[in-house]
Amino acid sequence: MGLYSLLTNNIFINNILIATGMDAKKELAVGQWKAFKYDENKSIQQNAGFSHSPEVEESLSKVKTKLIEQLKLNVPVKGNVLDFGCGPGIYMKMLANDYTVFGVDVSEGMLQSAHKLLPTNKFYLGNFLSISFEEKYQAIYSISVLEYIPVSKIDTFFKKCAEVMSDKGLLFIQYPHALTSLDLLYPDRNYINYSPEFITKIASRYFAIVENKQSYDGRETCKYDKVPYPTSSKSFKNGYLLIAIKK
Ligand SMILES: C[S@@+](CC[C@H](N)C(=O)[O-])C[C@H]1O[C@@H](n2cnc3c(N)ncnc32)[C@H](O)[C@@H]1O
Repeated sequence: MGLYSLLTNNIFINNILIATGMDAKKELAVGQWKAFKYDENKSIQQNAGFSHSPEVEESLSKVKTKLIEQLKLNVPVKGNVLDFGCGPGIYMKMLANDYTVFGVDVSEGMLQSAHKLLPTNKFYLGNFLSISFEEKYQAIYSISVLEYIPVSKIDTFFKKCAEVMSDKGLLFIQYPHALTSLDLLYPDRNYINYSPEFITKIASRYFAIVENKQSYDGRETCKYDKVPYPTSSKSFKNGYLLIAIKK
């Protein structure tokens, strides 16, 4: 992290910005994703931000299995499903034969790549929080995107998910969770490790929570994970999964 980042993205500044709602105006994550350029020398998964290490592959595979299982339980065949932060379309491709899958992403580079994979599917380019969607969805899922939603917009995020969903719609959100007590103080507002307890509290305003658990091993923690895996804090193995139904 450079000196400028250290001075403008730290616990003290971030909490002032969050308290005043300015974190949503001063956020950089969306800008960084907008500037994303697809790298043809990397795999589609690497472009989406994930390595091919065995631990990442295993963790991704568990989430994919759970997503398929939950969609089968809750969404009729050909039902409308929205991928929030679809990136290059890996999950959409996996589901496209069974559901009518829509994607939204703020990055043009990501959507160009997703469009090549899914030429007939409908995509929305822009920030999920400010887009007007034309259809209702029976499910919304998201893999590794919640960390880019500003803290002061978390309520707006869950409210919007509920608004664009049909009754009893399924919400499936995989996110990097808080791994230390320090994470609860928002040291990096461009990659937020949300507290599972906080996510349950806000999401339950609009959704009945089915579960909110560690996405690799199914453990439940509260404020933060006291025994995270001794791997990089951004490894997919350290992640959480919220499954909920619209109230
Ligand atoms: C780590 S990538 C994950 C991509 C995809 N979900 C996957 O797992 O393959 C995060 C994606 O979220 C998108 N994103 C971040 N904030 C967003 C927002 N507010 N609205 C729409 N897309 C967003 C980024 O452009 C990026 O493509």
